[in-house]
Amino acid sequence: MPKLGVNIDHVATIRQARRTIEPDPVWAASLAELAGADGITIHLREDRRHIQDRDVRLLRETVQVKLNLEMATAEEIVEIAIATQPHQVTLVPEKREEVTTEGGLDVIQHRERVGEVVDRLQNAGIEVSLFIDPERDQIAVSKELGVQAIELHTGCYADAASETAQHSELQRLIDAGAFAVEQGLLLHMGHGLTYRNVVPVALIPGVSELNIGHSIVSRAVLVGMERAVREMKELISI
Ligand code: PXP
Repeated sequence: MPKLGVNIDHVATIRQARRTIEPDPVWAASLAELAGADGITIHLREDRRHIQDRDVRLLRETVQVKLNLEMATAEEIVEIAIATQPHQVTLVPEKREEVTTEGGLDVIQHRERVGEVVDRLQNAGIEVSLFIDPERDQIAVSKELGVQAIELHTGCYADAASETAQHSELQRLIDAGAFAVEQGLLLHMGHGLTYRNVVPVALIPGVSELNIGHSIVSRAVLVGMERAVREMKELISI
């Protein structure tokens, strides 16, 4: 059974919509942990659109399970990671204009910079995972870079327009996953996973960690709505 890393970025997205103090992702992390999350995942983006530096600091102090920091290889962020010491860093590509991480990190094209950052993070005692597309060449280079883990991008599977396309994307993940395990890499997966599409991915042999965010935060908003409204009604029925 894979472990579940709960990505709480979008709790911070709601907070940042008003630049206020609620909802606090630090509180959300505690609740996720109480509910059984095996890890808390956050992405400190260069534009700070959701998670803030203060969140990273506080979460490092309060999260008892694995804290997984997703980040680009930008120098400023690398320095924050080394200073903060999360249990794991997952290196991801990042474009300012994108809505979310659009594709895997191209570790072939960016081999030199990725390799340098991997070495620095590992020398600081941080485990490193690389978020890559499910391709053999990307996995082989990840192995050469000496990381402990890779996270295969499940976005193409999640976005597949037909059952046939979804089936073939699932097979790509299975094949790439088998190759990664053969190479001795820990196998993580994530992006776009939902309550509807997660089960076949959770059943992929060797997958040890799933990182899921948007769908969990979306459901939390809805399953919490009735109670939140009832509590407000009670307050004003005076
Ligand atoms: N894994 C990685 C590397 C990501 O960048 C993200 C999005 O921040 C996720 C998992 C979670 O994706 P989603 O929010 O679609 O579940």
